[in-house]
Amino acid sequence: MSQGHITVVGSYVVDLMSRTPHMPKPGETVLGGPFRMGPGGKGGNQAVAASRQGSQVFMVTKVGEDQFGKDALQNFTRERIDTSYVFIDREEATGVALIAVDDQSENMIVVALGACGRLTSADVEQAEETIRNSAVVLVQLETSLEAVKKTLELAQKHGVPVIMNPAPYQKISKELLQKVTYLTPNETEASLLTGIEVTDEESACLAAKVLYQWGVPQVIITLGKKGCYYYNGRNTGTLYPGFQVDAVDTTGAGDAFNGGLAHALAEGQSISEAIRCANAVAALSVTKPGTAPSMPTKAEVTRFLQQR
Ligand code: RIB
Repeated sequence: MSQGHITVVGSYVVDLMSRTPHMPKPGETVLGGPFRMGPGGKGGNQAVAASRQGSQVFMVTKVGEDQFGKDALQNFTRERIDTSYVFIDREEATGVALIAVDDQSENMIVVALGACGRLTSADVEQAEETIRNSAVVLVQLETSLEAVKKTLELAQKHGVPVIMNPAPYQKISKELLQKVTYLTPNETEASLLTGIEVTDEESACLAAKVLYQWGVPQVIITLGKKGCYYYNGRNTGTLYPGFQVDAVDTTGAGDAFNGGLAHALAEGQSISEAIRCANAVAALSVTKPGTAPSMPTKAEVTRFLQQR
């Protein structure tokens, strides 16, 4: 299948990760280890996920004028991701994320955005031609809101579909949500956006209907290993079960899902096929430690789907 390119507007940070037997309580110190460091940020992870599936990806982000910033450019290049719009901030350092993963493979993250939090609307405007020619634009909420707004504005101006992964949660207006084609919150984000506590298929259906009524044409609520719930205003919506695998680290699974979804939609797959692909990319990502480095290749996804 032929396909257009994907533009990802989002974060790049360095992930500083450690395992812990259990998450520390407030005021508690726990002994962890081993320590790992690697490329991360929801935007960067999603770009890697899509690129490893074979999409041509343009990354729009900002890094510091420091070693982590140089590493970012090298990492993106190694992943065959175009860095023409990776901007350098001369004042702010490259961001970092502090990640703890417990024995149940669950994670807690504190992200200090650094330079990528200073991505401006003027920066995004420089990528207008690339956005205009995209098959799909992918955006999260891990940069400045002005960058997110400009991305949605340009995509709408040029009629390019947008996947918005509203992570981490930030308060956003309905006016902004109405510019989104596919909204992909997880349970927590869907709950915070709608005020409906999402825990299962039934509550996901209620929340998805609210988001649809606010003007989002296609809602995909990810439900961890349960899969995801899709609603587009027709019938009652569909639960797409996740693939069952032995998880070692669930960090970045949402990013894997979004990168896989963007790739499949850019390739012209139907929404059902695209969700199946996204679920497979997410399932395989949790079988390896880390975030961007855990994204599967196209060959791995093809083999995995053939076996199911
Ligand atoms: O979604 C996982 C990502 O969130 C991590 O890579 C970390 O950088 C945080 O931004």
